[in-house]
Amino acid sequence: AKDDRKFSVLIAGGGSTYTPGIVLTLLNGLDKFPLRKLKFYDNDGERQKKIADATAILIKERAPEIEFEATTDPKEAFTDVDFVMAQIRVGKYAMRSLDEKIPLKHGVVGQETTGPGGIAYGLRSIPGVIELVDYMEKYSPNAWMLNYSNPAAIVAEATHRLRPNSKIINICDMPIDIMDRMAAIVGLKDRNDLVFRYYGLNHFGWWTEITDKQGNDLMPQLKEYVSKNGYWVGGDYDKGTEASWESTFKKAADVYKLDPTTLPNTYLKYYMYPSWVVKHSDPNYTRTDEVEAHRQKLVFGECKRIVDNGTAKDTDFKPDEHSTYIVDLCTAIAYNTHQRMLAIIPNEGAISNIDPTATVEVPCLFGSNGPERLSMGKAATYQKGMITEQNSVEKLAVDAWVEHSYTKLWQAFSLCKIVPDAGIAKDILDEMIVANKDFWPELK
Ligand code: NAD
Ligand code: LMR
Repeated sequence: AKDDRKFSVLIAGGGSTYTPGIVLTLLNGLDKFPLRKLKFYDNDGERQKKIADATAILIKERAPEIEFEATTDPKEAFTDVDFVMAQIRVGKYAMRSLDEKIPLKHGVVGQETTGPGGIAYGLRSIPGVIELVDYMEKYSPNAWMLNYSNPAAIVAEATHRLRPNSKIINICDMPIDIMDRMAAIVGLKDRNDLVFRYYGLNHFGWWTEITDKQGNDLMPQLKEYVSKNGYWVGGDYDKGTEASWESTFKKAADVYKLDPTTLPNTYLKYYMYPSWVVKHSDPNYTRTDEVEAHRQKLVFGECKRIVDNGTAKDTDFKPDEHSTYIVDLCTAIAYNTHQRMLAIIPNEGAISNIDPTATVEVPCLFGSNGPERLSMGKAATYQKGMITEQNSVEKLAVDAWVEHSYTKLWQAFSLCKIVPDAGIAKDILDEMIVANKDFWPELK
């Protein structure tokens, strides 16, 4: 029979800087993933409105048949939806800035998803994402949620533990970005021309195999390139790449050297070279300041321009490579395609010598029943040690939130590879408790 379904999508965190890119990707992909409805939900109506007003113009001009609505009312937002794309930032950039600056003051890496900053953000994100899951189950129990709110590792660990039967899939775009670079390096059109094996935790993993569709091994060529240039492609490809990302992509050359049998995720630089990172950080101007000065300014500026002109015909908003995987994933679930993509899911044997309850990132086949994990075999000794330590940090962070435990949170901070000792961990933690008083449970 002819399949003439059209889908209703809710973007939770409608005020996100990523929203216009996702809207453009959705509009660009209507032939593969047709929409009947698009809704935005955010708990900051004023921020969301700026993006929504521009989106309304875009939709009127390009796909007027799609019903569009932006709301701060959970019932209105979550009723009659098929897919929820979740991209919230609990505490917004103001709190991200503190996640970065407090540890740096103590000589420790200050980063959105890594170390004390990542744990602090995790304790804010857990209740925010759980609330979204509960709204979805109440108002649209058959819907799927694709969550890429950070810190994805801790959020995934928490949702699997606290809502084990929910239809939430936790995903990340970092490996996607890197695989696009790999394709460019070997001269292929895009990441979908690559077949890969990968294992680890979120922002903490390794590729063990990369071939083209014909099965030709691309690892030797990639390793040769990465050992010199990291994942930096340069030229037109990297026009517009921000300075901090240039540094991160190049640093992958040094990260690679620690295990020349695999290719690493860029975020491993924080764990392997924390002193280098701190030395190259400015505690008064961190990634948040860069995002506010660059991405946030561009996105909100362009939305304002569209609204002021009353048209989006000449907009430079484009479907972006970062969001195509989100739409690909919806398509795979909607049409049961069994496309192979990475997800952050309970291990359950996928990495055979890692705790089955660990939340890991491995390739899965995606169909209408969700992800089916693929077996990646054994982690090597180096990776096994790293994964076991870092996953324990993530588990302790969730324990601390659930049990309101100061001790567990202190353990999480001090076990973290980038924190030199328990005393420094405590100093950072105590400052963070004060900074996060509106978001964290009161710790005992
Ligand atoms: P942003 O601050 O621009 O947007 C986040 C939005 O979430 C804000 O409008 C905020 O008001 C809203 N929000 C916060 N708490 C909420 C809650 N409890 N309920 C509803 N809405 C809430 O942030 P951003 O930089 O665009 O990032 C958004 C999220 O996506 C972050 O978690 C970020 O780490 C993650 N992320 C996504 C991708 C991707 O693949 N698209 C890539 C990197 C990061
Ligand atoms: C962002 O703000 O883009 C992050 O989520 C990742 C980064 O670029 O620091």
